[in-house]
Amino acid sequence: MLIKNIKLLAGTREDNFLLRGKQLAKLSCIENAFLIIQDGLIAAYGKMADFAHRDNDFTGQVDASDQTILPAWCDSHTHLVFASSREDEFVDKIKGLSYAEIAARGGGILNSAKKLNAASESELFNMAWKRLEEVSRLGTGAIEIKSGYGLSVEGELKMLRVIKKLKEKSDLLIKATFLGAHTYPPEFKENHSGYMDCIINEMLPAIGAEKLADYIDVFCETGFFSPEETETICKAGMRHGLKPKLHANQLNLSGGVQIGVKLGAISVDHLETMDDVSTFELANSGTIGTLLPTAAFFLRMPFQPARKLIDAGCAIALASDYNPGSSPSGNMNLVIAMSCIQMKMLPEEAINAATINGAYAMELENETGSITIGKKANLIFTKPIPSLAYFPYSFGTNLIDRVMIKGRFI
Ligand code: NIG
Ligand code: FE
Repeated sequence: MLIKNIKLLAGTREDNFLLRGKQLAKLSCIENAFLIIQDGLIAAYGKMADFAHRDNDFTGQVDASDQTILPAWCDSHTHLVFASSREDEFVDKIKGLSYAEIAARGGGILNSAKKLNAASESELFNMAWKRLEEVSRLGTGAIEIKSGYGLSVEGELKMLRVIKKLKEKSDLLIKATFLGAHTYPPEFKENHSGYMDCIINEMLPAIGAEKLADYIDVFCETGFFSPEETETICKAGMRHGLKPKLHANQLNLSGGVQIGVKLGAISVDHLETMDDVSTFELANSGTIGTLLPTAAFFLRMPFQPARKLIDAGCAIALASDYNPGSSPSGNMNLVIAMSCIQMKMLPEEAINAATINGAYAMELENETGSITIGKKANLIFTKPIPSLAYFPYSFGTNLIDRVMIKGRFI
């Protein structure tokens, strides 16, 4: 397929590397470009002036004269499998209760766990499938999905089997993360070591045997899992081949960033609460800092200190955290707009953080995240926009005309 006369082809990249510091602002673009797709992959691209083929060499042709084309979003942190929404808690929060207070009353994650354990695998699959379709129409082409609403052997395995089925049936690139350590279930409230044993000796061996997960996650947070517990669980996961991707420093300076860096985690995610030491350690590591601004927005927390992190030399990714409790939206366009508006990221920085760096945060950098020969043709075709900056500027407007996944319009 030939796509020709593209007004702006953004995110072209010949060499693949994780962007940090000043590199994040470099988004290379070609005006009046062409793009050739073969077998679902990007086969060639360049300036129209250099287009050397004949039009009838192609079976399909698209004229994109008034369109900008971008790599599809790489959303590296979601909890997209869940059984029910939680807008009742949303109203409780409006009335003044905090996230921690709601959790202490058996709401929050425990509320989601109760509903998930009551739902069947096929019900969960159908709900998750709809959400996956919804986010792909919003431009997401690769996504990480966590367990963590089971909190029981059967519940966690059920969630991971749903994610496995999504991987098999969907054209999106999907990675699965085991988050059994999301919170302590009520029966283990006073017996933390009992739940740790269950994770380490029951859940992980079953997950390893069925190859149900790529990564291990722990909610390292005051009132949830301590840094020591986080380290123990991650090390057990690593023995089953699962690399850590952690929930760190969301509500407090939890020590999660340090543990993640020490264990060589792929990413430490959230980072609403950062100090100079954590920032410095992250900047001097190979671990990616994944920022989830819609979660900060929804919980009315201070936004992540993106500018400070970028200027310190950290490698930053952006993700949606799509989940029923702290970010009931998987809209990456909104994530990007919020990052520019509230965290003062440049449009180029936000787009890079949501594409190539997001791909790195799922180890999918050789398959997606940029317009590069040999990568999947996962592309966003915008409606007519005057410039790239217009995209985050015009927040709340759907500026996506069409989305292509593996060379096919969805
Ligand atoms: O990433 N912080 C922990 N986990 C989720 C929220 C889970 C929930 O409230 O259901 C998050 O924000
Ligand atoms: Fe999360």
